[in-house]
Order: sequence, then C-alpha cells, then structure tokens
Amino acid sequence: MADTVHSEQQEGGTRRDFLYLATGAVGAVGVGAIAWPLIDTLNPSADVLALASTEVDLSPIEVGQRVTVTWRGKPAFIDHRPEDAIEAARAVPLDELRDPQTDEDRVSKAEWLILVGVCTHLGCVPLGQAVGSARGDYGGWFCPCHGSHYDTSGRIRKGPAPLNLAVPPYEFSDDTTVVIG
Ligand code: FES
Repeated sequence: MADTVHSEQQEGGTRRDFLYLATGAVGAVGVGAIAWPLIDTLNPSADVLALASTEVDLSPIEVGQRVTVTWRGKPAFIDHRPEDAIEAARAVPLDELRDPQTDEDRVSKAEWLILVGVCTHLGCVPLGQAVGSARGDYGGWFCPCHGSHYDTSGRIRKGPAPLNLAVPPYEFSDDTTVVIG
C-alpha cells in the first residue's frame, strides 16, 4: 500500500512537472508569435537572441578583478585588466606566439578582456579567476589538466593547448554594460 501511494505521488509529481514544462513551452511560443510582427526584420528572433546573450553590468568590477559569468552554458571570463597586464600583453612579439594574435585584436576596450573560459586543449576550465589561484607563468590563466599557460591576453604560451582562449562576440551597450553573444 505504501508502495502504491508512493508511486502515485511520484506519478502525480511527474505529471505536474510535465504540465509545468508544457505550459512554459507554450508560453514561450506565444511570446514569440506575438513579438514576431515587431521583429520580423531580425533573424534569429529576439527571444532566441535573449537566450543566447548574457548582459553584464561591469560597474562593480574593480581594476584587477576577474569575474566569471555563464554564456550559453559555458564560463565566460571577464578581466578588468590593470595597466601592467595590458602592457605585458602588448609587449609580446607576435613571432613568440603559437597562435599569433595581437592583444589589440582581442579586445574592444583595452581594460576589458573577455574570454570563453574553456581550455583549447581538452576543454577544462583554467584557473586564474579566483583571487590567489594559479595564473601560470605568464600571469594569465593556468590549466592544470595538462599544464597549459595563457598570458594576460588569454593567448596560449606554454603547454599542449593549440589555440588562444576564444574571444566571444560581444558589444558594449553603454560604458559599463557589455552584452556577450
Ligand atoms: Fe587544458 Fe589539457 S585541458 S591543458
């Protein structure tokens, strides 16, 4: 008897969950359908873009701070770079780089470095975001999985990773707000 009650409760819970999810899905479609006449020049639609974008208020992030946000299910690193980190990144000759790219090409504003926080070797999340965590030999990020070192522009400098940390598409919507994606 106890088993029956238990399984009925489980079924009830499952049914309620299903209804909840179905309602959510219908609601989402409804919003899309209503919004469509207003946004029919945009492709993909605005509701899809909203899911794909992450808006970040940068104003609380002090110089020298690094913050991690989620973008499309992945970590995105935001680094409010101090002057010495920018200078170090810009002083590196391109021919010393495995994946040659200037720092200027990787940022829109020098003080804000924005990266996909996924190591280009096998996809681990590198260290370096938390205060006091390892930043590797070049002051950027360090992936302890197999020992990849990234510099203050997120470029690969040592270890097995073949490519720099990726820079996601982003735009500043005002001086202190960035929209990633
Ligand atoms: Fe980063 Fe292997 S996954 S070094």
